[in-house]
Amino acid sequence: MGYVGHRQALDVVLGGLRRMEYRGYDSAGVAVLDGAGALTVERKAGRLANLEGALSEHGLDRFAGTAGMGHTRWATHGAPIDRNSHPHRDASQRVAVVHNGIIENFAALRAELEADGVEMTSDTDTETAAHLVARAYADGPTAGDLPASVRAVCRRLEGAFTLVVTHADQPDMIVAARRSSPLVVGVGEGEHFVASDVSAFIEHTRQAVELGQDQVVVISRDGYDISDFAGEPAQGKPFTVNWDLSAAEKGGHEYFMLKEIEEQPEALANTLRGHFDRGRIILDEQRLSDQDLREVDKVFVVACGSAYHSGLVAKYAIEHWCRLPVEVELASEFRYRDPVLDRDTLVVAVSQSGETADTLEAIRHARDQKARVLAVCNTNGAQIPRESDAVLYTHAGPEVGVAATKTFLSQIAANYLVGLALAQARGTKYPDEVAREFAELEAMPAAVQKVLSTVDQVRELSRDIADSKAVLFLGRHVGYPVALEGALKLKELAYMHAEAFAAGELKHGPIALIEEGLPVVVVMPSPKGRAVLHAKLVSNISEIQARGARTIVIAEEGDDTVRPFADELIEVPAVPTLLQPLVSTVPLQVLSAEIARSRGYDVDKPRNLAKSVTVE
Ligand code: G6P
Repeated sequence: MGYVGHRQALDVVLGGLRRMEYRGYDSAGVAVLDGAGALTVERKAGRLANLEGALSEHGLDRFAGTAGMGHTRWATHGAPIDRNSHPHRDASQRVAVVHNGIIENFAALRAELEADGVEMTSDTDTETAAHLVARAYADGPTAGDLPASVRAVCRRLEGAFTLVVTHADQPDMIVAARRSSPLVVGVGEGEHFVASDVSAFIEHTRQAVELGQDQVVVISRDGYDISDFAGEPAQGKPFTVNWDLSAAEKGGHEYFMLKEIEEQPEALANTLRGHFDRGRIILDEQRLSDQDLREVDKVFVVACGSAYHSGLVAKYAIEHWCRLPVEVELASEFRYRDPVLDRDTLVVAVSQSGETADTLEAIRHARDQKARVLAVCNTNGAQIPRESDAVLYTHAGPEVGVAATKTFLSQIAANYLVGLALAQARGTKYPDEVAREFAELEAMPAAVQKVLSTVDQVRELSRDIADSKAVLFLGRHVGYPVALEGALKLKELAYMHAEAFAAGELKHGPIALIEEGLPVVVVMPSPKGRAVLHAKLVSNISEIQARGARTIVIAEEGDDTVRPFADELIEVPAVPTLLQPLVSTVPLQVLSAEIARSRGYDVDKPRNLAKSVTVE
């Protein structure tokens, strides 16, 4: 984050970092310019709280000044220790730089600087940028011109990066640059901001400007100025943030994640709102015609993490409704295995943040091969939707907890809307069938609300199994991705070994893991909707119960056949089979959050993770 204005920069920057800490929390740092030519820096490994402690210890008055910058780090190059924390400075300590992304040619740049006598003080790629800017500013064609110096350095950098740069000689400006990693400008009155995310400045202004690829922005008290890396004037894209501070605050909850679990009915309703009008499914941005959609002969869903699990759910719906083959791929694998793509392939990229580097690179690869790309995204104007041919926003509101909850449910619902949009364009569903499916989706917020009332039972159970060494998850059909998501949540939050299996696969190996007392969570299909599957799963449960497992069963209310096999039964409302993940995921979210809490972990910021992973 960077700030120039009329307030104390330290307060503004710390406030911004606090809201963006979910992006990384290996270390944090700030730099403040005092206007009289002094640049003061403080950096500390660990959470932002450590930095705040160090700041008060060393005297906050040293940090008086109305221009400054800050950073929270998710380590890529160099361990998360004080000296690798940002901001990084050049040898004269006049230049400070914070950076997101990876400078891929940093080894060559570092060697060049070292050969020239520069002594590196960290193991990071970022430090090279600080030295290069200082040199460009000191000497040569860009001497004395900070924006031009930054542009000259950017032209030499390879990889994806966002840089925020200050120079003690230029206390009235902050220069920032962007290639691939996100950066937005906040436009206030007599103050301007740059940040990775609008949440950093939402408290001060809702007017924002999105920077394009390979652009540099200079902010001052009175304005902002955008150019490309060559120095030609360029345009950003102004927008107004449509949520306010309260959406980004805990509102009385102990953790954001718990608040976000409770917000799921509302998030789902917001995902659906506005996407069905006059009998038709509507996308938010549509640069594909119905004819284009009719020509699609294959769908790939590419995504990472929870978004990938939402894609696995989508496969069942899209194949069923559209009679189109659907492959679901981890974005990080997709690009590097030479997938067969052409202009009749539709690639659906699902990403909450819209900035996940693996997913972004996957769609770039797809577009190079002439495939069409449809993005499902929660962040307006993020890079993935910008580079797509059509966009459906999930409108779930900001999600701060690192583990996806409400955005996962919203992604599932949005993916269904994509399936219905395809079915409507291709005529594989009649308009009244599309309307009926939509109406069923519209009943889901109330169903999820009902599940939330079982939370107390799950909480109690969580305390009971918090000491287990592992938990297994089983499901079939759409229950299988739910099982995968349940296991991922438990790994992320509670640091427990958790694994999910397709229940039918159990007998082919994983059943060997079953031992006395091992908790096994089973996601049951509806006994009415999928009677055959239900019967098969009942057999699977009895097989594991016979071998000593402790069975925790998520089943439709009134499902009496499963009762004798459930050591613990968690009931969810009866809903159409395809929509079941929207209800059956919720108890699993609560389970992992509560186990993590019993073990004393911070559920909003699990160790080693970051919400938004902008490196490959
Ligand atoms: C990170 C987060 C996950 C998330 C994944 C994909 O790994 O920790 O919770 O599911 O990225 O993020 P995206 O923003 O692309 O949905």
